Amino acid sequence: MCGIIGYIGQKDLCSVLLDGLKKLEYRGYDSAGIAVIQGGEIIKRRVKGKISALEQELKSSPIRGEYGIAHTRWATHGRPSEENAHPHQDCKGNIVVVHNGIIENYLQLKQELINQGHRFNTETDTEIIPHTIEKHFRGNLEQAVGKAVQELKGAFAIAVVCSQDRNKVVVARKGPPMVVGIGKNEYIISSDINPLLNHTRDIVFLQDREIGVVQPTGIRFSSFSGKPLEKKAERVSWNPVMIEKGGYKHFMLKEIFEQPQVMRDTLKGRISLDEGDVHLDEIGILKKDLNQISRIVIIACGTSFNAGLIGKYFLETIAGIPVEIEYASEYRYKDFIADQNALFIFISQSGETADTLAALREVIKKDLMTMAVCNVKNSSITREAKGVLLTHAGPEIGVAATKTFTAQMSALALLALYIAQIKKKMNKEQRLGYIQELQRIPHQMENILNKVRSIEAAALDFISYSHFLYLGRWVNYPVAREGALKLKEISYIHAEAYPGGEMKHGPIALIDEKMPTMVIAPRDRVIDKVLSNISEVKARLGTVVAVSNQDQKELSDKVDKVINIPEIHELFSPFLTAIPVQLFAYYIAAERGADVDQPRNLAKSVTVE
Ligand code: G6P
Repeated sequence: MCGIIGYIGQKDLCSVLLDGLKKLEYRGYDSAGIAVIQGGEIIKRRVKGKISALEQELKSSPIRGEYGIAHTRWATHGRPSEENAHPHQDCKGNIVVVHNGIIENYLQLKQELINQGHRFNTETDTEIIPHTIEKHFRGNLEQAVGKAVQELKGAFAIAVVCSQDRNKVVVARKGPPMVVGIGKNEYIISSDINPLLNHTRDIVFLQDREIGVVQPTGIRFSSFSGKPLEKKAERVSWNPVMIEKGGYKHFMLKEIFEQPQVMRDTLKGRISLDEGDVHLDEIGILKKDLNQISRIVIIACGTSFNAGLIGKYFLETIAGIPVEIEYASEYRYKDFIADQNALFIFISQSGETADTLAALREVIKKDLMTMAVCNVKNSSITREAKGVLLTHAGPEIGVAATKTFTAQMSALALLALYIAQIKKKMNKEQRLGYIQELQRIPHQMENILNKVRSIEAAALDFISYSHFLYLGRWVNYPVAREGALKLKEISYIHAEAYPGGEMKHGPIALIDEKMPTMVIAPRDRVIDKVLSNISEVKARLGTVVAVSNQDQKELSDKVDKVINIPEIHELFSPFLTAIPVQLFAYYIAAERGADVDQPRNLAKSVTVE
C-alpha cells in the first residue's frame, strides 16, 4: 500500500525520487506526487495515474530542489485524482506530508481543525496530518510531528518537510514500515528497502512509535514522546541486480523462472544428506519447546495462505501434527483457544501485512508460541514473532506472488521434517528419502521451464474465455486455488477453485462450452477420482486442460490439453504443478495486454486493514 521515498544528498534530487518511486510502484499505482524544497520554497507536482505520468509532468514542467519527498498512492479515502494525490499540505503550504496507512479518527480531527479555522481541499484522511502538525508548529518540525502523531489513531508511516524548518525530513512510524538508508553523504528514506539498494545497503529500520530526523549532517531518532533512541544500521544482503527485470518482459515471468534457484537457496545449509537431518536451529525456538507441541495453527493471507494450506499436508503427513489454517483477517477478531501446546505460524512474504501482523499481536498477547515464515528479514512480523524461518526468495516485485509461494512451500517442508526429527516421528532413512526428493525438485522445475513454449501455446487457446473453473484434490486443491487466484488477479478473468469432489455440489451447474476447467491431476493417491471429475466435466461439454504426469494416452483421450510435468513424490507435487498454473495465468494475462506486474486495484504489500 502506498510507497514513500525521500532524499537528502548530492545526487540529482528528482531523478533519485523518481527512480525510487518506480521501485516502489508495486505498492500502489493510482496517483503519484513529489515535493521538493528549493531556497525555502516548497514546489509540488502531482498527477493521477502511474509514475510514468509523473515523469512526463516533470519533463514538461521541470523542478529542482535541495531535498524532497515523493509518494505513489493506493487509494483508501478519496478516489484516485490529482487533488487527492500526496504530498498534502497545511493551510499556508509550509508543511507537506506523504503518508502510508489510514488515520481512523480523521473525521473527528478534521472537524476540530475546521472549527479552529483550518481549510481543507481534499477527501483524504492524510490531509489532516499536515494541518495537525501546523497546529503544533512553533519553529521545530520534529517537535510538532511528535505532538501531532500522538493525536492520530490508526496506522501510519509519514515523511514530512517544512519550509520554515529547513534541511530536514522528519519521518514517523506506527504500523506500516519505514526505513532510512545511510549512504555516503546522503540519506534516503523509504517504505521499503528496494529503492535504497542502488544507493546503500546500510539501513535503519524504524520501529513502531519512533520518529527519525534526517538532515545533511546526520540522523537522530526518538520515541513519539521525545525520548532519544540509539539505533544502528543493519547491512542487508539483497543487491540492486535482484530488482531488475534481467531481460524478461515482466517481473512476474522472471520470478517464475527464478523458482528452481529460490528453492535451492531456501534448502541451502539446512539439510544434510549424510545424517539425513534438517538443521533449523536458526529459527530461535528451542527443540524442547517444539517437541512439546501437539497442534499447529497457520495464519496468513493471499498466496501465503495457499502455501499454508499445502504446508498443512506436509506437517500432518511428515510430522504427524494436526494443523489448522485460518485467514489472518478473520483470526484477529475471533475468540481463539489459547493453547499452550500449539505453535502459531504466521506466513507472510512481506512481513508487513496488516491483518497478519494484527493476528500475530493477538496471539502474542496470550503469551503463546509464535513463528514467522517470512521473506523479509527485519520486517515487523519477523521482529515480533518468537521464531523466524526465513524464505530465501530475494525481493519479489510482481504484485502476484510466485517465487515466494515456492519458497514458502520449501520452508514448510523443511519445518515438517525438522519437527518430525525432533519428535522422532520417522527414522533416518525415511527422512533421507524426503530430503532427497526435495533436492531433486529444482532440477525437475527446470525441466518444466525449459518447455515453457508449450505452456504458452496451451494458454493462448484460452485467452477469450470469461470464466474458469480450477479443480484439484488432496495436496493439489491448494494449487487449484493458487492457479485461480493468479488468473483472476492478473488477467481479470473470473476463476473459481474447488476440490474435485465438491464439484457435484454446485459448480457442475456452471459447466458448458463457455466455461473451461483447469484440472491439477498429477499421478497420486486420488488420480482415479480426479479422472472421474474430468469425465464429469467432459460429459457436460466442458473443455479441460490438465496439468499432469499421468500416462499420456490415458489422459489425452479424456482432456483437450495436457501440460506435462515430470514424475515426483506425490506429497511434493505442488512444487511442480504450481509452475504451469502460474505460467498459464501469466501468458493469458500478457496476451490480453493486462498490466501483469501491477494489476488494477491490487498492491504488493497490504499494510492497511
Ligand atoms: C497481497 C499481495 C499478495 C500476497 C498477500 C499477502 O494481496 O498482492 O501477493 O499474497 O498480499 O501478503 P504477504 O506479504 O503477507 O505474504
